Order: sequence, then C-alpha cells, then structure tokens
Amino acid sequence: MPVVVVVGAQWGDEGKGKVVDLFTESADAVVRFGGGANAGHTLVIDGAQLVTHLIPSGVLHPGTRCILGDGMVIDPRTLLDEIASCKQRGLLAGDELMVSERAHVILPYHRTLEGLREERQFAIGTTRRGIGPAYEAKAGRRGVRMRDLLRPERLRTLIEQNLDELGPVIAHYGGQPPDRAARDQMVEDGTRAGEALAPFMTDTGRYLHQAITAGQNVLLEGAQGALLDIDHGTYPFVTSSSTVAGGAAQGSGIGPTRIDRVIGISKAYVTRVGGGPFPTELGEVEAAALRKAGSEFGATTGRPRRCGWLDVPALRLAGRINGLDGLALTKLDVLSGQQQVAMCTHYRLDGELLDELPTDPVDIQRVEPVLEHFPGWTEELRAARSLDDLPQAARTYVRAIEAAVGIPLFLISIGPERRHTIELRTAFD
Ligand code: IMP
Repeated sequence: MPVVVVVGAQWGDEGKGKVVDLFTESADAVVRFGGGANAGHTLVIDGAQLVTHLIPSGVLHPGTRCILGDGMVIDPRTLLDEIASCKQRGLLAGDELMVSERAHVILPYHRTLEGLREERQFAIGTTRRGIGPAYEAKAGRRGVRMRDLLRPERLRTLIEQNLDELGPVIAHYGGQPPDRAARDQMVEDGTRAGEALAPFMTDTGRYLHQAITAGQNVLLEGAQGALLDIDHGTYPFVTSSSTVAGGAAQGSGIGPTRIDRVIGISKAYVTRVGGGPFPTELGEVEAAALRKAGSEFGATTGRPRRCGWLDVPALRLAGRINGLDGLALTKLDVLSGQQQVAMCTHYRLDGELLDELPTDPVDIQRVEPVLEHFPGWTEELRAARSLDDLPQAARTYVRAIEAAVGIPLFLISIGPERRHTIELRTAFD
C-alpha cells in the first residue's frame, strides 16, 4: 500500500497535522500538493508546539522526505523563515526538504491586491496570504514559478509584465501600485530567496515517480478541506486550489493510478473560519463553549472559528468527491462534558429531505439541519487506547457517525499528543 492521500473532509482545520504526523511514521516521503501559507498545521510533540504553514506536517520525522509539490503557491520569505525555525529545533538537518521548481511564487502585490479586494470588493474572509491572486496569475499563464527565482532577468520581466497589468487594478481599489523602487526590491528579494532555496529545488514529480516505482511509501498531504475546494466546495466561499484527492495527483505530479488509498479527516463536530454558508452552525453561546474546549482559533490568522454540530450530509459529499476509503475522526475529547451531543443526518429544504450538501449557495444558506441527539459523557477520554476504553455514550456516538457516513473509521484522535489516539486500521499496509 505505497501511496496514501490524506485530505480534510470539512472546511479545513480538521486536525490533519496530527494525523499526517502519525501516518508519516510509515512513510518515506510526505508531500503537500496544493495551497500555500493559508494552511496552518499545529503539531504537538512532548507538549511543545510547532506550527507549519508550508512545510508538510511530516517534518517531525528525520529522514523522511518533505516535499512542497508542483500545485503549491509559495511565499519564499515564509518558507525561508519556516526552514529556519525547523532547523532551530534540530529538524530538517539532512536532505529531507525538496521544493518543486514548478510551484508558483506568491509576490507582495498578490497580498496587496487580495487585501484591497477583501475590503473594497467582496469579502470571502480569506487568510490574506495572496493565495487567490497567485492562482489567478497561474491560470492566466503569467505566473512566476520557483524556477524563475533562479533567473533574475526572467524574474524582472515577469514582475514588470504582471505589474503593468495589475498596477491599474490596485489603483482602482484605492491602493498604491508598486513604484520603480518597489519593483526593483521585489526582483532583488526574489533573487536572494532563489539563491537560498536553490539547493532544495528540483523536479519533485519525477523524484516521486522514482520513489513510488522503487516501492517507497508516499503520503500526499492535503491542505484546507473538501468544502473549500475550488470546484466542489461552497463556491464562492472557497480557496483557489483543488483540495480533494483528485488534486493530489495533479499537484504532486504523479498519475492518479498510483494512488492506493484515500483517507478523509473530520472533526467530531465542525468548524469554519471565514465567510460562507454553514448549515449546522451553533448560536454564539453554545459555539463559545465548544470554541473554548477545542481551542478553536485559526492557526494562521488567530481568528475565532465558527463552530457547529457534525454535518453528515456535508461529509457524504466529501466522501463521494474524494472517493474516501476511510475516515479519521479527530477531537472527540472536546465533546466531553456536553450534556447532549448532536449530529445532522439530513437537511430539509422546501419540504424535501436531502442527504447531501446541495450545490446552489443560496440553497446551502436555506437548508434546515435535521439533528439527531445523543446523550453526552463527562469522562475525560485521553487515556483510551481502544474503542472499548471509551464511555458507552462516546462509543455510541462514534458508531452512529460511521454508520451515517458509510465509511469505515481508521483512527480516532482524543487529544493533541501522538499517544492520544485510538488506531483501528493502519494507513499503509
Ligand atoms: P484563502 O485560501 O486564503 O484564499 O481563503 C479562502 C477561504 O478558505 C477563507 O474562508 C479561509 O478562511 C479558508 N481557508 C484557507 N485556508 C484554510 C485552512 O487551512 N483552514 C481553514 N480555512 C482555510
């Protein structure tokens, strides 16, 4: 079972970092295949926290290749800072890190433009990391790729071309288009970053092909979640990349036939940051309790996350579009102390019962969740190592989720540390 994909099955922040870290124990390489520093993976080892935004969550395993794949959009400054903080902790001490020379570069004007649009045009509630404008440039065939940082003249031409086009747009939204000095600075900063990152840049897709052919285990690590996918999510309140398993092949440069298994990560409830529809969202008082228990604040932006009950129709959609073979259920421990827990099994819309998230954004706003309630539990769960160790009420809830979604559980996470885990099946076998 050499190639496994792990994807978020909700609106991001499902606890993928911990699950990827656990699965990486059996992996020779771990690959981020999309997105950029909009992601934030909180890793906890022996009580110490490390938050990564670009480097895959497998970074805690010395010797395992950490690959930033073709489909990513990379802010070189953020990457260099992240490499430095990993090295300070003794990580990435060998030749683990590889960066695709095809990945696209986020430049300062991408962030400027995004901020202006959020304020003056249409607020999606983005992370303001320049993700959307960088993918626009890529689709518009005027993007700057990592390999262009190694060629200063080409970099200058590309930056000039882009700014000739975007300067008036920035001005249109009331911003200050970068002047000559700012343009020169971008070329200089980009060139310096290119020199620093050159040792890591390579044709990562080709490397992965060879690794897979040699029988190595490869983990493809998704960012964000299925419902933020550019094609299948709650458009337009989505990110600008493919966050689903189909995007894993595309964004890492391997063929889809090489993927053996796809595992989706879901919290035992739901959170969402940024705007957009959220059918099972709780009122502020109940949400505040869950937010506090689960420390639900964005790892990238620090924003409070919106909270709600588990949304099975949304999970069914995630299961279908990802072809999920298994589910990892995270943060079950956060529900300890709730008098009752609830799960949305269906939606009601105009008198009809729906078993999946509808496609029309207005319909998603209008659906009423049909909730099934379960007795809560008060016990702390972190010591459990098997399903039988869980209180009866927690076990009933978990089994009900598995039955309602129709996808087998591979793992249940009951706390932030590696040991706070109930493993039911192995990812690589
Ligand atoms: P962008 O990806 O910064 O363009 O933001 C688009 C939407 O995706 C916003 O609602 C963000 O809050 C959300 N988003 C982007 N990355 C993440 C993530 O890693 N976790 C949760 N939400 C995210």
